[in-house]
Amino acid sequence: MPDDLRSRDIGDMPAQRALAPRSVAEARGRFFNTGNAFNIVNPPVPDHAFVDEPRRALDEATPTGLIPCDLSSVLGCPFPATSPLVLARYGRIRAGETLTADFVTTGTIAYVILGSGITICGAEQIAWDAGDVFVLPGGMAASHTAETTAVLWLVTNEPQLAFENARAPAFGQAPTDLVHYRAEEIDRQIALLYEVGRNATIAGSALVFSAERQEASRNILPTLTAAMNSLPAGFVQPPHRHNSVAVSLIIRGEGCFSVIDGKRKDWSPWATTITPPVSVHSHHNGGTEQARFLIIQDGGIYYHARAMGFEFVEHPI
Ligand SMILES: [Fe+2]
Repeated sequence: MPDDLRSRDIGDMPAQRALAPRSVAEARGRFFNTGNAFNIVNPPVPDHAFVDEPRRALDEATPTGLIPCDLSSVLGCPFPATSPLVLARYGRIRAGETLTADFVTTGTIAYVILGSGITICGAEQIAWDAGDVFVLPGGMAASHTAETTAVLWLVTNEPQLAFENARAPAFGQAPTDLVHYRAEEIDRQIALLYEVGRNATIAGSALVFSAERQEASRNILPTLTAAMNSLPAGFVQPPHRHNSVAVSLIIRGEGCFSVIDGKRKDWSPWATTITPPVSVHSHHNGGTEQARFLIIQDGGIYYHARAMGFEFVEHPI
């Protein structure tokens, strides 16, 4: 045993290396142990709300372009990230102009905050309006052309791919097709949830977006879930937690707030909010109208790993 390791704890040991490596490949090896390998603490995911980004996206002076909700410096990620595995952006497109996006992602989830336009992706195209949701396959560029000045909310799993230095799927090989959910149909589906009603064991009245190819998993992409949550006036969605992070767009929510680990977070119009993984959170509508927020979670990963960890918390801290 080397002298500097005598009478010490394995938890105090620095990274060990091969004593006499015979190759560069051997020299690259590092050894840790049960005492020093599992105590790395990453910066926590904060309960942040992006409010300047939507303000800029909705400002008439802002040119056509993308505004990322980037917390990479806080998260210690060497790539743009809203949460460790999810990236949200606002895209502003002036009337008559085109925004082309070619993200390194398996798919993009879009919500139309403002305006109308056309998106062309591969051989397909859709015409969208405010309130629509659509999904674009990764591995191919999408061009968004605004008929009237438009603001889109665009969410991808680019950080997930960047984490592994992975590429986008080859052209035509994405795990999703182009899928379009029109505002009118979303309204009809939400109204249906209230018409049919729910029992007390169901967590709320959220409309979950899925598609032909993800029907078995109920997800929108293999690793991402998307839900339009609705809160009737005066309603409280009870405290709960899950291992997935939630990156949400506040669509309508006057008088609404969330409580995250005991802290009140007032909603701000068109903000992108982060509900940290494992945090105990509840949503409160103190207003007079039904509230709406679109929630993207990295829940597909946790469902697949059998580790979602959803639970109601009766006595939050
Ligand atoms: Fe939640």
